[in-house]
Amino acid sequence: MSTFESRTMSEQSMASQVAAVVQGRQVSEFGEFAPEARRGRVLRVTQVGEEVLHRRCADVGPELVGSAELAGLVDDMFRTMYAAEGVGLAANQVGVDLRLFVYDCPDDEGVRHVGHVVNPVLDERDLDVAVEVESEGCLSVPGPHADLGRAEHATVRGVDRDGQPVVVSGSGFFARCLQHESDHTVGRVYVDRLSKRERKRVLKRVEEMREQVLERRVERAEELVQELGGAEEGL
Ligand code: NI
Repeated sequence: MSTFESRTMSEQSMASQVAAVVQGRQVSEFGEFAPEARRGRVLRVTQVGEEVLHRRCADVGPELVGSAELAGLVDDMFRTMYAAEGVGLAANQVGVDLRLFVYDCPDDEGVRHVGHVVNPVLDERDLDVAVEVESEGCLSVPGPHADLGRAEHATVRGVDRDGQPVVVSGSGFFARCLQHESDHTVGRVYVDRLSKRERKRVLKRVEEMREQVLERRVERAEELVQELGGAEEGL
């Protein structure tokens, strides 16, 4: 999911006591970037219309859980998400047909949530109550945003890269992120939830904005080499 500039974030006391909520657990210290990003490489972000974004991804099987391959993918996804200045990224957005996502996203109280979820399952009980309409965007739909209703609270259950159970909950903007990323893992892009007319408007804006957005990502990837080390690749 992408950030939106118009958003205002309320500063609350919890933000000063908790540096971040990592894998669903509060921690008192956390750096500017998730440590995974130092090890990762920037991969190309797939775009709306590419087949891998529009079908349910494969579950991550037991042969991959705990593997260097899966850990490396999480590293690459964090690095790619930061290069694209996003707050969430699913594996099919880097062309990998697996059900997992990463996130580094604030909630409406200014608390930062960071982590990854493998084989995420969204708790459906939250979805029909307290819908909030807010602006939403996606790294695979580069440029525009659109208003979209989402449940105010969301919980996702899954495992981490080593197979340990993880439960991630949040409200407001972070709840939106959890719903948006869970959608990706089952082949749904946020524009699929828009009216036909609004979807058309958004996709037209992509054509106008894409080039500039992608140029910005290349620049940001280069800056990250200074900030994090490593080398930019894959763009
Ligand atoms: Ni997205």
